Amino acid sequence: MRIAVIGTGYLGAVHAAGMAELGYEVVGVDVDEAKIESLQNASMPFYEPDFEPLLRKHVGDRLTFTTDFAEVADADVHFICVGTPQQHGSMAADMTYVDAAIDSILPFLKDGALVVGKSTVPVGTAQRLADRLHEVTPRDIDVDLAWNPEFLREGFAVEDTLHPDRLVLGVTSDRAEDILRGVYAKTIEEDNTPVVITNLPTAELVKVAANSFLATKISFINAMSEICEIAGADVTKLADAIGHDNRIGRKFLNAGVGFGGGCLPKDIRAFSARAGELGAAASLAFLAEVDAINLRRREHVVEMVRRELDGLAGRRVAVLGAAFKPNSDDVRDSPALAIAGQLHLSGAQVSVYDPKAMANAAKVFPTLNYADSVEAAVKDAEVVLHLTEWTDFRELDPAVIGESVASKVIIDGRNCLDVDAYRAAGWTYLGLGR
Ligand code: UGA
Repeated sequence: MRIAVIGTGYLGAVHAAGMAELGYEVVGVDVDEAKIESLQNASMPFYEPDFEPLLRKHVGDRLTFTTDFAEVADADVHFICVGTPQQHGSMAADMTYVDAAIDSILPFLKDGALVVGKSTVPVGTAQRLADRLHEVTPRDIDVDLAWNPEFLREGFAVEDTLHPDRLVLGVTSDRAEDILRGVYAKTIEEDNTPVVITNLPTAELVKVAANSFLATKISFINAMSEICEIAGADVTKLADAIGHDNRIGRKFLNAGVGFGGGCLPKDIRAFSARAGELGAAASLAFLAEVDAINLRRREHVVEMVRRELDGLAGRRVAVLGAAFKPNSDDVRDSPALAIAGQLHLSGAQVSVYDPKAMANAAKVFPTLNYADSVEAAVKDAEVVLHLTEWTDFRELDPAVIGESVASKVIIDGRNCLDVDAYRAAGWTYLGLGR
């Protein structure tokens, strides 16, 4: 089987390599020449653990990357993996890249080809694209469209691609189902992966529903965190205690600076916008509150620093973390970078360090000061902010970093540093919601 993957970002590039690992001939296509050149040299254009060995194993063998859409012509299955970012000036998703991807492969689709959407899209998109495919392809060419949402997490993208916790296949024909079951046969057999077969709108909705649930869970615990702070309670203990209830579960109950990234924030907004178009705005009105709670966490940390320093102008603040989460270089809608930026715009002298996201952060926020190590970032700082929970930061020795700061005050925006160790080393430790 030959597979084409359209769009080689965090999702598509890893999916392409994952398909090669499953044994298929794969071509990855993107309009971004620099990205394609990097991938074709088996070098990852973004940081993702375990990804580069997979590229090195398959590029030059059964995995190729190109900017030439004509090279998809032999493919039996075409995965659409392009981005659907938030539109400028609107909450809705920007469908430009999905529509362009479909238009770019249309002239090359062979008889019997299956186009499979993986991008996160507003419900109704798959049917619209299927109609377009059937309208535009010549009568003697039979093509089909399916939707197979992707649930991979950045930082675990390779693991999640090769061993997904479920497969959702939105199909309109037995043939499409058979092809997709064939593509994932190894995973299904070896891991006993649950397969949910459904129609196109359900498959589209599963994805946004899952991300909305995760975002809601995080904002729920952050709302509890706000109450805990006022009431003198500890949100981490509260999360442990309610998490012991299997129906609730402890995962995604880490209170802190909240969620960011290229998915959760824009997905809940796009889902709300789509519900509005469908006349069901009230059903998802709660997602606006989920968003508001999340954004409030960022302001709260800025306020904590302002209070601690009695003003921000000219004050020296170290920020540990720029990526939206650890094991990623992705800074899209990153709480860490948003807080660093806000402090800087309020007059503070902010020094940022992140193990992998420095280059991306500097592109988004060039006016911040980027230090080349933790030590350089915290030197002479009056407050240290821990905003992305990299293992490197969790393992810092509070006594050692305490030697070069101007004042031993740390705000742990992820509630995961060793409170006792920091206090024993003479630090004032401030968590969120505790
Ligand atoms: C998320 C989903 O988890 C994936 O299943 C989905 O496939 C992906 O979006 C997507 O739509 O492509 P991802 O954005 O990689 O994955 O990151 P998450 O691990 O979900 O974390 C999102 C944010 O929530 C991060 O900023 C993280 O720091 C924050 N978070 C997570 C918390 O603040 N508290 C928690 O308890 C958990």
